[in-house]
Amino acid sequence: MVNLHKSFGRHAVLGGVSIEFRKGKTTVVLGPSGCGKSVMLKHIVALLHPDSGEVWFNGRRMDRLKEPELGRARREIGFLFQQGALFDSLSVFDNVAFPLREHGWTDSRAIAERVGQVLDQVGLAHTAKQWPTDLSGGQRKRVALARAIALEPSLVLYDEPTTGLDPIRSDVINELIIKLKESLGITSIVVTHDLQSAFKVADWMVMLHEGQVRLQGPPDSFWASRDPIVQRFLRGEATPEELSAIWPTGVSRPTGTVQEDRP
Ligand SMILES: Nc1ncnc2c1ncn2[C@@H]1O[C@H](COP(=O)(O)OP(=O)(O)O)[C@@H](O)[C@H]1O
Ligand SMILES: [Mg+2]
Repeated sequence: MVNLHKSFGRHAVLGGVSIEFRKGKTTVVLGPSGCGKSVMLKHIVALLHPDSGEVWFNGRRMDRLKEPELGRARREIGFLFQQGALFDSLSVFDNVAFPLREHGWTDSRAIAERVGQVLDQVGLAHTAKQWPTDLSGGQRKRVALARAIALEPSLVLYDEPTTGLDPIRSDVINELIIKLKESLGITSIVVTHDLQSAFKVADWMVMLHEGQVRLQGPPDSFWASRDPIVQRFLRGEATPEELSAIWPTGVSRPTGTVQEDRP
């Protein structure tokens, strides 16, 4: 994407964002909540349109495509939405079969075979007959991922794939992202504020801050960065302004070590 600008009314969200996502690699886009990560992703599949700038995918301008070309281009992109969003009224099987049927698959044997394959890829072949409500949060994410890859996309977009999951379940998702890249050569874009996940899966990292790319480079370059904004994000520290809102002036934060009771 080149020099992407996007505002909602007077609220500027993206102020000239340029990122090159490399084929067959995993690019992680980091940044605090509300900085525009989901907005950026939605431009890639033209769910949102930029005020200016260009979105390129496989030699096509996604921001300019109209149906039916847009539908064809979108078919090559799997999207794992932030809210997982399985249809609770459909079985796991029918959830995963949904995009196949949407795209004109009618042969029930071919559908069953493909659904079986992708559920197997996420380690959930045994859940086909179950309902989304029977599954854990981590399993639901994996079913949503199976659905996202059902049409063999060359690019998968992951919006906060580990948010809300415990560290073990998060790691299963991380491993799946790595596995899909390595076994299928999928290009991945992972948007997250989960640093552990980011450093595990990233080949390349981009940090967004106030609508701009603050830093991009290999993961090591983030630890090496002397930019205070990058450092504060990596350390998970609030800014003095954010702290002053909860520690009003005149009230000082209690410091020092807590005296332990001795038996
Ligand atoms: N469709 C929309 N209409 C108006 N404002 C939006 C819309 N989508 C996102 N925003 C605003 O854009 C900003 C960035 O949102 P988002 O990309 O969802 O952040 P995040 O980095 O947490 O994914 C937020 O302030 C959000 O309220
Ligand atoms: Mg988001």
